Amino acid sequence: MPLLEVERVSKGFGGVRAVADVSFTLEEGELLGIMGPNGSGKTTLFNLIAGALAPDAGRIRLHGHDIAGLAPHRICARGIGRTFQLVRPFAALDALENVLVGRLYGRARGTTAEAIAEAERLLALVGLAARAHTPAAQLTLIDRKRLELARALATAPQLLLLDEFMAGLNPAETASAMALIRGLQAEGLTVLMVEHIVWALMDLSRRIIVLSAGEKIAEGPPAAVAADPAVVDVYLGSETSDLERRR
Ligand SMILES: Nc1ncnc2c1ncn2[C@@H]1O[C@H](COP(=O)(O)OP(=O)(O)OP(=O)(O)O)[C@@H](O)[C@H]1O
Ligand SMILES: [Mg+2]
Repeated sequence: MPLLEVERVSKGFGGVRAVADVSFTLEEGELLGIMGPNGSGKTTLFNLIAGALAPDAGRIRLHGHDIAGLAPHRICARGIGRTFQLVRPFAALDALENVLVGRLYGRARGTTAEAIAEAERLLALVGLAARAHTPAAQLTLIDRKRLELARALATAPQLLLLDEFMAGLNPAETASAMALIRGLQAEGLTVLMVEHIVWALMDLSRRIIVLSAGEKIAEGPPAAVAADPAVVDVYLGSETSDLERRR
């Protein structure tokens, strides 16, 4: 049984079909990439999976159980963690405290000492050990992104949703983020990631889904997706060069 099954899911806002009849499955341990131009429905799809929004139609199953429309904290408790495209840590709390909030929210259980030890382990994992007691407001963008990842991991997810985790990072930071994501997958985490940095997404994923105007227009291995005329069509513009580089 797939870990996640998204079946004919739709969501509209007024007249806009943000997500239109999208279906896909995700196997345990897989890393599936999602790409698509601005406004193609990627974040809305994440919001539907994570429970921030309820779909108008369709089913979303985790381990075969329908989770569509459940409250976000319930979905989190069932094992789906997420990062947000716009990172908003608790500014006045330090990095360690922010990660502890994630731990409280998620499905991990245990003593306070265990929670702190785990939060410290996660801060070290994302490269923030030295910033544990720095207020989140004073962190740089890359460090806030790292913190966001540690907070999501602290909820003890089985499936991690990453929404443009690499946006705004320089090439060296992107490379370190990619290594981090690979490491998480190697440890058994299932990952669904939205990314505008096409070459990075293609490098990390065996399979990619492309959204355009809410619809899934392509799905397959990166090379096949990059060569797909429908995909090339929607990427005519700023990101064409990214696609070209891969072909
Ligand atoms: N809460 C909302 N209310 C009204 N319209 C919305 C809302 N959220 C998203 N939309 C619209 O739904 C469509 C899809 O938006 P979404 O944020 O899912 O796209 P995206 O693929 O994540 O874009 P980006 O690459 O810019 O992050 C857009 O037309 C957007 O304006
Ligand atoms: Mg988005």
